Amino acid sequence: MRVDNKDYRTIWYNADTKYVEVIDQRLLPFKFEIVEVKTTAEMAKIILEMYVRGAGLIGASAAWGLYLATKENNDISFIEQSAKVLAQTRPTAVNLQAALDKMLPKLRNTPEENRLQIAKDIAQQISDDDASSCKRIGELGYDFIKNKISKGKNRRINILTHCNAGWLAFVDYGSALAPIYEAYNNGMDIHVYVDETRPRNQGARLTAWELGKHGVPHTLIADNVGGHLMQHGMVDMVIVGADRVANNGDVANKIGTYLKALAAHDNNVPFVVAFPSTTFDSQIENGVEDIPIEMRDTKEVLYMLGEGKAEEESFRIAPEFTKAVNYGFDVTPARLINAYFTENGIFESVEELLKGEGSLSAAFRMTKCER
Ligand code: MRU
Repeated sequence: MRVDNKDYRTIWYNADTKYVEVIDQRLLPFKFEIVEVKTTAEMAKIILEMYVRGAGLIGASAAWGLYLATKENNDISFIEQSAKVLAQTRPTAVNLQAALDKMLPKLRNTPEENRLQIAKDIAQQISDDDASSCKRIGELGYDFIKNKISKGKNRRINILTHCNAGWLAFVDYGSALAPIYEAYNNGMDIHVYVDETRPRNQGARLTAWELGKHGVPHTLIADNVGGHLMQHGMVDMVIVGADRVANNGDVANKIGTYLKALAAHDNNVPFVVAFPSTTFDSQIENGVEDIPIEMRDTKEVLYMLGEGKAEEESFRIAPEFTKAVNYGFDVTPARLINAYFTENGIFESVEELLKGEGSLSAAFRMTKCER
């Protein structure tokens, strides 16, 4: 995507230095800085401390982290140990483990002298696949908005989103925001309500920034406003991303998503989840019961982030004696989800999917959306 007339991805290989570069998302929207990553330990730190975040980007970062491990030491035991460290950085987004699972067997089966090239090729492939899946989600999702949401309404279409599932959460394009960009690029009069997304404010800091840079009209709202807007007919559709989708169609996404789904359900507002198939986890049968939920530092709740590097400029908002708890994600049950946008197609109800082949994974394998 473009930032000040230059095309960027969120992570890339620098052919001159042979290292990896990322945008430091902790600094947005106040500063745009690129960070060079030279070792697998640095990559683990960068994921853990959220220089990079978002399911797709976490997956690509882990892949490049394994490339950097191979560059440091192409012995398979070092690579496997590095994969373990990377795997422990963020537990909810399944893309991370999916990327490692894709790379490790291939590296094990490759002679030492060829491992670096293979690691680079697979990491690049994972990055490119993430970007192209998101692009396709944008095209298919735009068709859905055009045909199912805006048809017959001769007015601006209002979409509400939670957290950041835009290009900053992936290698490029985004999941939830990709259909919005596509709609905007095709001339649709579209406007986005952006949830601020406490405690880290990914909505205020990242979604608002990337929508604004693209020119998409948007309005920032406090996290609790969505229900009110939906009750008063001010939202045509909710689109969110996903960090992990279970076999029964339940969706883990940023904390607060479930409340938005409840409000949407109560007000008959279509609630849609957009994600590439790498976010689908067929190993998890019941999302509400079994998707691991990341517990984060309570400082994020007790303090507000300031400009610049979050931790350095944050200020306390609760009494000294008050304790907090910080759940990073929640799970929205499938019964509250009206459609799933994936690169393989648009699935309009989990019931429809389940009655055919018995699982969402089967639907992913079988169904392609016709454009
Ligand atoms: O904690 P984060 O910023 O890595 O959380 C991820 C998210 O931004 C959201 O949950 C998003 O909606 C899904 S990731 C594409």
